Amino acid sequence: MARRLGPGRLVIASHNPGKLREIAELLGPFRIETTSAGALGLPEPEETGDSFEANAALKAHASAQGSGLPALADDSGLVVPALGGDPGIYSARWAGPGKDFALAMRKVEDGLAGNTDRRAHFVAVLALAWPDGHCECFRGEAHGRLVWPPRGSRGFGYDPMFVHDGQSLTYGEMDPQAKHAMSHRAVAFAKLVEACLA
Ligand code: IMP
Repeated sequence: MARRLGPGRLVIASHNPGKLREIAELLGPFRIETTSAGALGLPEPEETGDSFEANAALKAHASAQGSGLPALADDSGLVVPALGGDPGIYSARWAGPGKDFALAMRKVEDGLAGNTDRRAHFVAVLALAWPDGHCECFRGEAHGRLVWPPRGSRGFGYDPMFVHDGQSLTYGEMDPQAKHAMSHRAVAFAKLVEACLA
């Protein structure tokens, strides 16, 4: 049985503005007061884990311990089977220090080099940690295919080259509400809500 999240403040353990915006929108209906790790001046821990779960948990633990409040972290990325699962947990790093996702998408496309297997999925793991060290993890996946050239300027990261199964628009072209209804983060979030919030 998962531990429930009671009333009070929740720290969103992320410094990524795209993720902060999406998580705040997903939490909107639950009347939870949120703050962010950045707003509290908490440092960004190094992501030394070897899985999405390990990295999400280490970020959530760092913020929970640094703030004395429950903390929610997201570790996510794009998994491309034809690239052996890359960029995977290294999705942010593929954009380099300048966070250049045009460059990261180009690297994915160059890696595929004419490969006809263009399947890909996004993974999001949400970790909810408490200051006493307890932690719950929830995983969501969104399956689809990669297109080239990238299309659309909404969303963030690899959104412009990803088309969800059954859709024709990329996540970068879609209305953000439509993306939120089907994305990896939405699937993980629905699991978290059912276990800890509903
Ligand atoms: P991290 O979880 O901070 O290691 O970063 C995950 C990276 O995965 C992001 O910087 C994006 O590049 C990518 N990513 C995760 N979720 C999404 C998404 O919903 N759309 C596009 N890219 C994403």
